[in-house]
Amino acid sequence: MSRIEIQQLTKQYLNRRVHPRSGDDPAIKPGDTFDVISALDLNFNNGEMVCILGPSGCGKSTMLRIIAGFDVPSSGQVLIDGRKVREPGTDHIFVFQQNGLLPWMTVWDNIGLGLRHMKDKTEKESTITEFIEMVELDGFEHHYPHQLSGGMQRRAELARALAVNPNLLIMDEPFSGLDFLTHMKMREEVVNMHEYLRKTTLVVTHDIDDALIMGDRIVVLSSSPATVRLDCHLDYDRPRDFEKLPELSQLRSEIFFMLGVNYAV
Ligand SMILES: Nc1ncnc2c1ncn2[C@@H]1O[C@H](COP(=O)(O)OP(=O)(O)OP(=O)(O)O)[C@@H](O)[C@H]1O
Ligand SMILES: [Mg+2]
Repeated sequence: MSRIEIQQLTKQYLNRRVHPRSGDDPAIKPGDTFDVISALDLNFNNGEMVCILGPSGCGKSTMLRIIAGFDVPSSGQVLIDGRKVREPGTDHIFVFQQNGLLPWMTVWDNIGLGLRHMKDKTEKESTITEFIEMVELDGFEHHYPHQLSGGMQRRAELARALAVNPNLLIMDEPFSGLDFLTHMKMREEVVNMHEYLRKTTLVVTHDIDDALIMGDRIVVLSSSPATVRLDCHLDYDRPRDFEKLPELSQLRSEIFFMLGVNYAV
């Protein structure tokens, strides 16, 4: 179970930028505080896969860090299953991030890291094997991260996240930097995993197609201070095909436009 309630969340940071850029608000001087997120209200339901889009710098990662308890709000609060988040790791949360593998451990040990609670050795070994096979890393169990390609590292990271079987999986741009085919494959893995396990999953992505193909729901945030510009449920069966779903294509164009691209190709 993981229902998340974001209530009147505000996060302020200190403006450390000495030389302002063209898009910056001229009223915010170096040394001033500014709102990255301002009085944001948003709920994520139990079991939902929500894809979050928004311009760079609008506060997506900040919001995820606060949900995971790695950062604290300036005001407002985040509740997970009715309990206020005060610190990391209160509710079996897994944050998927790039370069999350421990370099001194093999693929096998990295995946096993989240399964320390499993006392039954056979069960633990079969779980590790299952996830290694799922991401097609069999044969590489005893390799260290530096002996893997970038794509293989990311697949090992994904296996590690899924093996933990978290109540809440938080993914911040999980597919960035992957080659096209690995991207497609990992996206499929995440969708399959979610269909099967139905755990609350938050995915921040810059890829509008990822969001439309994966999400039970899409949330588009505005530029900073982040507010919700679009919040819609996607009740379409998977796999989703834009060509056969004109409403989805229409939504795709609208989101592109919302994010500042006039002609989606
Ligand atoms: N620790 C910090 N101190 C000061 N400013 C910060 C800090 N962390 C983030 N910021 C600022 O907060 C804003 C939002 O950052 P955040 O990383 O949440 O954006 P984002 O939406 O995840 O962007 P991207 O899509 O590029 O990853 C940015 O202007 C960033 O410079
Ligand atoms: Mg970010």
